Amino acid sequence: MATNTKNKGIDTMAVRSEPLTRLLLLCTLFMSATGVTLSVAAAPIPSPTLSNNCAGCHGTFGHSAQPMPIIAGLSESYFSQVMRQFKSGDRPATIMGRLARGYSDREIDEMAAFFATQLWMSPQQEVNPTLVARGRKIHVEKCEVCHKDNGRYQDAETPRIAGQWREYLEIILQEYWRVERDMPHRFMTIILQQLKSGDLSALAHFYADQR
Ligand code: HEC
Ligand code: HEC
Repeated sequence: MATNTKNKGIDTMAVRSEPLTRLLLLCTLFMSATGVTLSVAAAPIPSPTLSNNCAGCHGTFGHSAQPMPIIAGLSESYFSQVMRQFKSGDRPATIMGRLARGYSDREIDEMAAFFATQLWMSPQQEVNPTLVARGRKIHVEKCEVCHKDNGRYQDAETPRIAGQWREYLEIILQEYWRVERDMPHRFMTIILQQLKSGDLSALAHFYADQR
């Protein structure tokens, strides 16, 4: 099973890095509109306060608005791990790399503990029923083994994906699928190579339809 057989020619680079670039553009627009800056507090302060720095993009207590990922209720260990990977550069990111570097590991763990106590709330989203049905089929065949309970399951390594924002799901699935950047989880990359481009959108519609 080849993990990396796609053409990596320079001519396709611009197109291939499109999803994250689009997210970055949205972030930049967002930050200039709201005055969010990337500077962060140095002194140790209680996590709800620390977490206020995230609200500009991830909403109050992590209940983000489209297309930013919902982070309320993420598993504490997944959260800590992902933030450390953003910080070290092991996880590709538009904005979170720079941002995570402003926090100590202790502060990251504090925020992880705080967001883990929040309840996940799946937003109402418009979906295409045909795509939902197609996504469900692929999910059962290839994804349910890890993303159990239609993607509601989560553990220390696997994030919940049911009820996540559709646009974010599409962007992140394309990231794994295009292999243009080294995502930290090899297996997801391998699995995604078995899919066609249109499958990604179908899957995003399916998970967006879950509560
Ligand atoms: C300017 C907007 C912005 C701010 C502010 C922000 N984030 Fe993010 N966050 C993003 C984006 C965009 C992503 C997707 C990864 C990327 O491209 O950087 C993300 C991804 C994440 C993820 C991964 C979610 C997943 O499902 O894998 C976590 C965890 C996270 N952010 C935590 C935080 C925390 C904690 C803070 C506050 C200290 C914060 N973010 C502040 C925009 C932001
Ligand atoms: C062998 C277990 C496994 C299988 C099979 C699997 N995944 Fe995953 N998935 C994971 C893990 C673990 C992560 C976290 C990866 C990371 O840390 O980068 C993940 C991450 C994701 C994410 C990113 C979530 C986020 O917020 O960053 C999406 C979306 C996703 N998977 C969808 C799928 C879909 C769709 C399929 C089927 C085509 C699938 N996965 C198959 C284990 C799996």
